[in-house]
Amino acid sequence: MANKLDDKGFEAEYGMVGGGPGSLIGEVHRKAAKFDGQAKIVSGVFSRSYDKTLQTGKELGLNEERLYKDFEEMAEKEATRDNGIDFVSIVVPNKFHYPAAKAFLTRGINVVCDKPLTVTLDEARELDKLTREKDLLFGVTYVYSGYPMVKQARQIVKSGDLGEIRVIQGEYPQEWLAAPVEKEGNKQAEWRMDPELSGNVNCVGDIGTHIENTVSYISDLEIDSIAANLSTFGEGRELDDNAEMMVKFSSGATGSFWCSQIAVGHDNDLKVRVYGTRGSLVWEQENPNYLTVSYLDEPKKVLSKGRDDLNSSAVDSLRLPGGHPEGFYEAFSNIYSNYLDALSDKKKGKEVDPENYDYPDVTEGVEGVRFIETCLKSSKQNSEWVDLV
Ligand SMILES: NC(=O)c1ccc[n+]([C@@H]2O[C@H](COP(=O)([O-])OP(=O)(O)OC[C@H]3O[C@@H](n4cnc5c(N)ncnc54)[C@H](O)[C@@H]3O)[C@@H](O)[C@H]2O)c1
Repeated sequence: MANKLDDKGFEAEYGMVGGGPGSLIGEVHRKAAKFDGQAKIVSGVFSRSYDKTLQTGKELGLNEERLYKDFEEMAEKEATRDNGIDFVSIVVPNKFHYPAAKAFLTRGINVVCDKPLTVTLDEARELDKLTREKDLLFGVTYVYSGYPMVKQARQIVKSGDLGEIRVIQGEYPQEWLAAPVEKEGNKQAEWRMDPELSGNVNCVGDIGTHIENTVSYISDLEIDSIAANLSTFGEGRELDDNAEMMVKFSSGATGSFWCSQIAVGHDNDLKVRVYGTRGSLVWEQENPNYLTVSYLDEPKKVLSKGRDDLNSSAVDSLRLPGGHPEGFYEAFSNIYSNYLDALSDKKKGKEVDPENYDYPDVTEGVEGVRFIETCLKSSKQNSEWVDLV
C-alpha cells in the first residue's frame, strides 16, 4: 500500500488567504496540507476583516506578527522575511484568485489556488506566464483527480483496454441552490451569485469546471468545441444555476456534460462515464472507492480500492486497506502531498516538471477557464457550436 504516511523529511511552511470563520473550503485545505506531515501553517489573512483574521489566527495558534490586514501586505512582508513562507494557499471567492496569486508570484512565492483559477482567460494566462517566468510551482485544487479510483480510471483509459474512446458523459448535480438561500444568509451562496465576486458564471465555474477537469484527467482528450445552454432558474439571479453542454473532442469522441445546483434530490453527485469500442467505466463521487468497468462479452466488474489489482498511481494514493472508506479529505491530501513532493525536490535543487508529480497545476487551471469562457460564449450565441477559445 501507499507510502503516504512515510516520513518525507520535509515540512513546508505556508500561509493562507481566506478560510476565515464560517468558511467552507479553507479548513479542508488546512487539514489536507498537514495530513502527511508535509506542511505547517504559519501565516495568514483569513478574512477581509482583520478582527476575524486575528480570531482564526489565534484558533490556529499562529504568531500575531504573521497575521496581516490584506494579501498585498502579507505577500510583501513574507517575501522579505528570512524564514518567509514556502507557499501560499488561496481559498477566497473567485474574483480575488488573480490579484492574490499575482501578489505572491511576483514576489517569488509558490502558490496553491482553488478553482476556477481566475474569472477571465487573460488573467489565467497571465498567471501561467508569471509562474513560468518566475520558475515557481502553482497547484490548482481540482480535487477529484486526487481520488485513487479516478487515477485507476485514467490508467485503464491510457492502457487502451477500453479501445478507442467514443463517448464521455459527465454530470454534477446538486440541490443546494434550488431555494433562494443567497437571500437567506447563506454566505457561500451570496458571493457565488454575485458577479462582482463570482465572475461571469456561477454553476459552470463552480462545478462544471470540475467535470471538465475530471474528464480531462481520466481521458486525456482535448476539447475541440462546445455547444452550451446556461440557464438561470432562481428568481432575481444574475448568474447560471444549471447548464447543459455538448462537447466534441479533437479525437472525434463526443460527450455531454450537465451541471446543476437546482437538482432537487442530489447532494454532490459527480459522475463520469467513459465508453470505448471495447469497454466502459463509471466513477461516482458519492461512492468513490469503487470503479465499475465493463468489457464486451464479459461480466461487469466492480473494482474496489485496496482490494483489486490496481495500478501504482492508485495504490500510492491510498492510506487505508480496502473496506475503510477514504474520501474528500484524502483526495485533497493527495493533491497537496504530490505538490509538496515537487516543492521538496525543488528545494533540494532538483529539476521539477509538474507533469511528473500528478497534481493539477496552472496549465489545468487555464484549461478550466478556457472551458468556462467557451461555454459562456456558446450560450450567448444561442447555444451554437463554438471552438474552444
Ligand atoms: N476544490 C473544491 O472542491 C472546492 C470546494 C469548495 C469551494 N472551492 C473554491 O474555494 C474558494 C472559496 O470558496 P468557499 O466556499 O470556501 O467560500 P467561503 O465563502 O466559505 O469562504 C471564503 C473565505 O474567504 C474570506 N475572504 C473573502 N475575501 C477575502 C480577501 N480579499 N482576503 C482574505 N480573505 C477573504 C472570507 O472571509 C471567507 O472566510 C472558491 O474559489 C471556490 O470556488 C473549491
